Amino acid sequence: MKIYREVDGDLGVIRKRRVAILGYGNQGHAHALNLRDSGVEVVIGAREGGTGARKAAEAGFPVLRFDEAAGSADVVMMTLPDEHIPAIYEREVAGSIRPGAALGFAHGLAVHFGLIVPREDLDVFLIGPKGAGRWLRAEYEAGRGLAALIAVHRDASGEAFAIALAYALALGCGRAGILETTFAEECETDLFGEQAVLCGGIPALIEAGFRTLVEAGYSPEMAYFECVHEAKLIVDLIAEGGFAYMRDRISTTAEYGGELAADRLVTDRTRAEMRAILDDIRSGTFARRLIADTGAGSPELERLRRRHPRDIDEVGERVRRIVGGK
Ligand SMILES: NC(=O)c1ccc[n+]([C@@H]2O[C@H](COP(=O)([O-])OP(=O)(O)OC[C@H]3O[C@@H](n4cnc5c(N)ncnc54)[C@H](OP(=O)(O)O)[C@@H]3O)[C@@H](O)[C@H]2O)c1
Repeated sequence: MKIYREVDGDLGVIRKRRVAILGYGNQGHAHALNLRDSGVEVVIGAREGGTGARKAAEAGFPVLRFDEAAGSADVVMMTLPDEHIPAIYEREVAGSIRPGAALGFAHGLAVHFGLIVPREDLDVFLIGPKGAGRWLRAEYEAGRGLAALIAVHRDASGEAFAIALAYALALGCGRAGILETTFAEECETDLFGEQAVLCGGIPALIEAGFRTLVEAGYSPEMAYFECVHEAKLIVDLIAEGGFAYMRDRISTTAEYGGELAADRLVTDRTRAEMRAILDDIRSGTFARRLIADTGAGSPELERLRRRHPRDIDEVGERVRRIVGGK
């Protein structure tokens, strides 16, 4: 994998261009602030009366409508929720973005699955910081950076990669490392990771463990400590030094019991289901379902949200008070 750092790019490439950041939320605010502090001219595109518009104005940025911002810039970054990008792009960006401009994304979903098809004259690139916006901003302010992915979908000008790299440097990501990938790889691995492991698998396993203990008559606080609270300790060990490092630092009882249980929990059926989840992602089935649900007012998302009882979070609040000594 090719990794780029500060010495590999030229910040001047982005400093001589005007950048419109569409959406001033989680990612957008960090992009805007980091770019401005790196000497780049930034305007914000936001919907009228929204939180993003208010916060961007408070931070001293010029705030325009999406179409005005897109039409005024050389580089347009789409830091909007993925499920809303196709409609906003079609309605407010496609007709106003300047000929020969560069169009950027923080995640490849809309482009990779053909939910939008940018005009042939546009450069299309991806800069995907590996973490939440507030972390991207905090690392920049501390003089460090967050790693990011870089990819070019279309190089119409011959400068698309140089623009994308300069954009990533202005975000501060060159201080950590900018990893070259493709829209397909970024998008498919990101969706798979969040579905099968991070936001699907792990939370479901944690919650199922908690409920198994509570249903068996143990106190909810004990169940929470064992199955939820301590999950972070294990993840921290893996992040610090890897899997062998983690196993070296748990008891023999935990290691032995964990190995036996893992074989009962992650079975051939689980692995087959993971492959089926990946198939749904790669075929575009998941992306189409997301966009259809959003278009209908998100009824399926709302139904899925409602099936989580609040009791586990009420126990969590009590446990955090105990741990925090309150
Ligand atoms: N979140 C992350 O950690 C992360 C990490 C890497 C990449 N990304 C990518 O970054 C992009 C942006 O994600 P995000 O989490 O930053 O988005 P976000 O915070 O959820 O939303 C950004 C902005 O979108 C506006 N918005 C939402 N719905 C809208 C609608 N229907 N019409 C017009 N404006 C609307 C909001 O405006 P208001 O303020 O007016 O509500 C908000 O300011 C996505 O492509 C995502 O995949 C995210």
